[in-house]
Amino acid sequence: MTTTFPLAFTTTPSRAVRAEAEREAILASPGFGDHFTDHMVSIHWTVAEGWHDAQVNPYGPLQLEPGAAVLHYAQEIFEGLKAYRHADGSVWSFRPDANAQRMQRSAVRLALPQLPEADFIAAVEQLVAIDRSWVPTAPETSLYVRPFMIASESFLGVRAAQAVDFHVIASPAGAYFPNGVAPISIWLATEYSRAGRGGTGAAKCGGNYASSLLPQAEAYAEGCQQVLFLDAEERTFVEELGGMNVFFVHADGTVVTPALSGSILEGVTRSSVLALAEDRGHPVQERRVPIAEWIEGVRSGEITEVFACGTAAVITPIGRLKGPGFEVGSVDAPAGALTMSIREELTDIQYGRRSDPHGWMRRLA
Ligand code: COI
Repeated sequence: MTTTFPLAFTTTPSRAVRAEAEREAILASPGFGDHFTDHMVSIHWTVAEGWHDAQVNPYGPLQLEPGAAVLHYAQEIFEGLKAYRHADGSVWSFRPDANAQRMQRSAVRLALPQLPEADFIAAVEQLVAIDRSWVPTAPETSLYVRPFMIASESFLGVRAAQAVDFHVIASPAGAYFPNGVAPISIWLATEYSRAGRGGTGAAKCGGNYASSLLPQAEAYAEGCQQVLFLDAEERTFVEELGGMNVFFVHADGTVVTPALSGSILEGVTRSSVLALAEDRGHPVQERRVPIAEWIEGVRSGEITEVFACGTAAVITPIGRLKGPGFEVGSVDAPAGALTMSIREELTDIQYGRRSDPHGWMRRLA
């Protein structure tokens, strides 16, 4: 087979498309990650043929050999982006080029092949076009699109797989946290690290999330919604949460987030928040943030707001930080004004309620 660029997709429509009433019942209360649309995209790659065989198929189980390398050595990466319904019914995505580029960087780190940006975006477009009725209309809802790439070669030697599959699935989504945008509590992991120097922390790979699950369970047991990781070497500097980046607002209006250290995921929402804060004239700092600065800053009033951000959770205020033997802040305090105002600006752009000066939006359907 000859590979053509950009890839041409063949479509096999589902013969089991959910009835409108069933779909509408799901869209009325989508939750997060519980339901999937009627179709999926798959593209195959081999060393010999490169990317080929791009298909839109009915959503359904994957066929994988039990020897598939992903099942043994976790050679896997993924992305997360959303499709937003605008008031005129059109459907848009937010900075899909940034997700495509990050997936290419993740692919390099995980020794996976890079999918060209145009094919990544075409795959998302194909899926959202065929399943556009799954893009919800209620405020704060969207279609969460999950591209992922797995080593599908059946081979137990430890080396980069020579056969790989890229898939895109989609899931209608409401708020990531059950309480919506209410302030959350964070648990400081002192026993565990997320990523170390030279590791895979900057890549969006499943392994990073697998290793967060035990400390995340600890966070739940402590009544917190997310776990916070410090740098692996000194256990001193704030890195990121289990699934999102973290920001601080200082009393003088300075907006601070941990610098990309090689072990922090470069969030698309993170870089968008930095741009929006800068647009408003806030001094913005990407630097190392000692955990003591967070604790003492909240106690003294030097830090006035703390928030988490990511595609799934958008911008979520952090009310409280808890760790072994200490606690600062409160989830009963109101969400910070700048936190909520940047959140509103960002979501207004995403839902087409205000202009898009950075050219971040791309029409999908
Ligand atoms: C996202 O915000 O898209 C994430 O990756 C967080 C989580 C759902 C994995």
